[in-house]
Amino acid sequence: GLPPQVRIHEVGARDGLQNEKATVPTEVKAEFIHRLADAGLTTIEATSFVHPKWVPQLADAEALFPRLDDLTKSRGVHLPVLVPNARGLDRALALGARRVAVFASATESFAKANLNRTVDEALAMFEPVVARAKEAESAHDQVHVRGYLSMCFGDPWEGAVPIAQVVRVCKALLDMGCDELSLGDTIGVATPGHVLELLAALNERGVPTDRVGVHFHDTYGQALANTLAALQHGVTTLDASAGGLGGCPFAKSATGNLATEDLVWMLHGLGIETGVDLGRLTATSAWMADQLGRPSPSRTVRALSHK
Ligand code: HMG
Ligand code: MG
Repeated sequence: GLPPQVRIHEVGARDGLQNEKATVPTEVKAEFIHRLADAGLTTIEATSFVHPKWVPQLADAEALFPRLDDLTKSRGVHLPVLVPNARGLDRALALGARRVAVFASATESFAKANLNRTVDEALAMFEPVVARAKEAESAHDQVHVRGYLSMCFGDPWEGAVPIAQVVRVCKALLDMGCDELSLGDTIGVATPGHVLELLAALNERGVPTDRVGVHFHDTYGQALANTLAALQHGVTTLDASAGGLGGCPFAKSATGNLATEDLVWMLHGLGIETGVDLGRLTATSAWMADQLGRPSPSRTVRALSHK
């Protein structure tokens, strides 16, 4: 059977905007994130505390994050941020971030391109970050840590990625203390059978499905099919990007994430609760597309905007 409800992890403001050619003004980003919260999203990845030269589009993290304080303080919205290393964690904690994400790679080529490290050097860089985030004595004060894993299915330089290689890095992320994993199909090449094979392999190695989220890009139009397969396997944490914004500047041939609207359309059709108001969300993505000066690639945004 399918789960009665799911948690959508909205990545448009981070994974989406990191790849836009245009630099979006900080106040537009703040409005975007507020509008996403108004549409009912409760986990909204806000930005990255990475090197500003590596991702110039998110170089305003220090200016943006404090503008979102009302969302965390009085509305209970979670605003995870990406942190690659100790410097990133310091920056995030200084602004009061309570949810962070480290981001590993299943392949050597992408680890090098994205983090300037080997796979194992990157894991060594994350270990003290995760340890410090989990250090507080009471669970209440601990910082929640997501462990992203990129290139779980295919890699633009290396081709198909062996499942054993993916499982090894997943285990390493959980062993160092990550609360949840997000399995990234960075270049959108996965198909549903491959998704099920990976989820089963993780279960076999002792990784429970409730610790696993899925992060599909829609390059080959497979993101919804892959999501349905993951849902049928019991996955309830689903990453998506409002309006289908996104891609990845460090991986050629990556297009946007699964559009949140397309996901919500399917979930509501299946009777699965999301808490999202699809009309408000679509209006937000149409507004953002105007800000970026190009139409949204989401089929659902287009269909509902032309009614
Ligand atoms: P590096 O050049 O090896 O850095 O980059 P370093 O450790 O040698 O440090 C060099 C300088 O950078 C130092 O400054 C550091 O202080 C500074 P200097 O002493 O030379 O003046 N520095 C920083 N400054 C600000 N914030 C920081 C920071 N760290 C070091 N956090 C590094 C290594 C990890 C920093 C770099 O490679 C980087 O920032 N990478 C980020 C790449 C990125 O954000 N990629 C996109 C996110 S991943 C993704 O999109 C995939 C995902 O969506 C899932 C999927 O689809 O697969 C999550
Ligand atoms: Mg991504």
